[in-house]
Amino acid sequence: MRSGRFDRGLGEAMRELNASIGFDRRLYAEDIEGSLAWAEALEKKGILSAEEARAVREGLLAVRSEIEEGKLQLSADLEDIHMNVEARLTALAGPAGEKLHTGRSRNDQVATDLRLHVKRAALRIAAGIEGLIEALAVAAERDFDVVIPAYTHLQRAQPVLLAHHLLAYAEMLLRDRDRFAWAAGQADACPLGSGACAGNQFGIDRELLRDRLGFARITRNSMDAVSDRDFACDFLHASTMLLVHISRLSEDLILWSSSEFGLVTLDDSVTTGSSMLPQKKNPDACELGRGKCGRVLGRLVGLVTTLKGLPLTYNRDLQEDKEAVFDAIDTVALLLPVFREMLRTLRVSRERAAALLEGGHLEAIAVADYLTRLGVPFREAHRAAGKAVRRAEELGLALRELPLTEYRAIDPRFGDDIHRALSLEGALEDKDVVGGTAPRRVREEIARLKALLRGQRTEPGPKAGKSVRRETK
Ligand code: ARG
Repeated sequence: MRSGRFDRGLGEAMRELNASIGFDRRLYAEDIEGSLAWAEALEKKGILSAEEARAVREGLLAVRSEIEEGKLQLSADLEDIHMNVEARLTALAGPAGEKLHTGRSRNDQVATDLRLHVKRAALRIAAGIEGLIEALAVAAERDFDVVIPAYTHLQRAQPVLLAHHLLAYAEMLLRDRDRFAWAAGQADACPLGSGACAGNQFGIDRELLRDRLGFARITRNSMDAVSDRDFACDFLHASTMLLVHISRLSEDLILWSSSEFGLVTLDDSVTTGSSMLPQKKNPDACELGRGKCGRVLGRLVGLVTTLKGLPLTYNRDLQEDKEAVFDAIDTVALLLPVFREMLRTLRVSRERAAALLEGGHLEAIAVADYLTRLGVPFREAHRAAGKAVRRAEELGLALRELPLTEYRAIDPRFGDDIHRALSLEGALEDKDVVGGTAPRRVREEIARLKALLRGQRTEPGPKAGKSVRRETK
């Protein structure tokens, strides 16, 4: 690449700075896929003869095998994966290899590679998230009878089914799945044929390229196409939100598994010991899940900052996109199976759940509701219930144990059915609205989730590097 224009090679330090082969080797499969499509388009234009096109095709397939078998020494002197593949192709295919880059730039080439990679990763992750949602639904069903306090301000607020709490995370993850599917759609445009920045000068068939690479559409402006990394930001945003949700779930599990709560036990397979304190069983998987959120958010902020203020069109700053994306992909790939296993093996203590419900006067709202149902204005009923809480505290009793005479002394409209109105079952069953914790509503939601997962699974498509073409568009 330098032999024409330059007298001397790169300095040693610049060579280090310049080379991206250390990380963009991960794009080898997409790069070769893109080149196979490009060779076909060149042949269609008569730029490659049938004979040359065949040599290029066979050469590219051979390069791919060599890379997959670890036989090709990738070199930093050749900067990146694109130049490494081309150099090896030319060594194998001769002069035909030297024609391959006709009308193409690494600018539209790398944009194509990364879009393919991001699209596939996003679909794969969406499918992985569905597995996690399923694990939540299974856990919700397994411990369906467990009632816990729901917290606001980390103070005990109202009794809910543990299943209801778990399904809150299923809702978050459903949104994450949709965000990844959407991010895949954002990446799903073919920039090949945009050249360095102005378009292709040989009238290349961009529709053919789109079709061969399985993109849904083609980009509509060459200058935008080579400098746009919005799709990578969308992917990183989806990753960040997923990690935010994994982090919140982690925090709940960390609290719940502490001796203070004692509500759950995390399986040995997802907990670690202490090098010093023999008694410790630490929720490190959760802490890592929580900790990695900052890392992925950092990748998003990093790339957005790289893009901000870049003049059109391609600038080398854009090379920073890849490590951000790869790191997010790897982080998510590490976490999803661990959290699935954690949910599968989670053990819940019914005794501790019952104990957590004691002493917090969670029935206070039911006391107020009792009067409200008799037509008492809510604010007045709220005051009466507050007095009942105060009286119960004075006597060291739970609201359920406070005698009828005490209730009547506060408000004569309390009847002898007040204690029935304060049962745990009643407090759950009366939340009988869509989205409420009434057992029948929660069962409905579990069924809805399962049907949803059965009905519309994300098709992850072939794993990068394993197949040349996608079957679907
Ligand atoms: N390694 C480069 C990147 O990641 C490939 C594109 C290089 N283009 C260029 N004009 N130097 O962005």
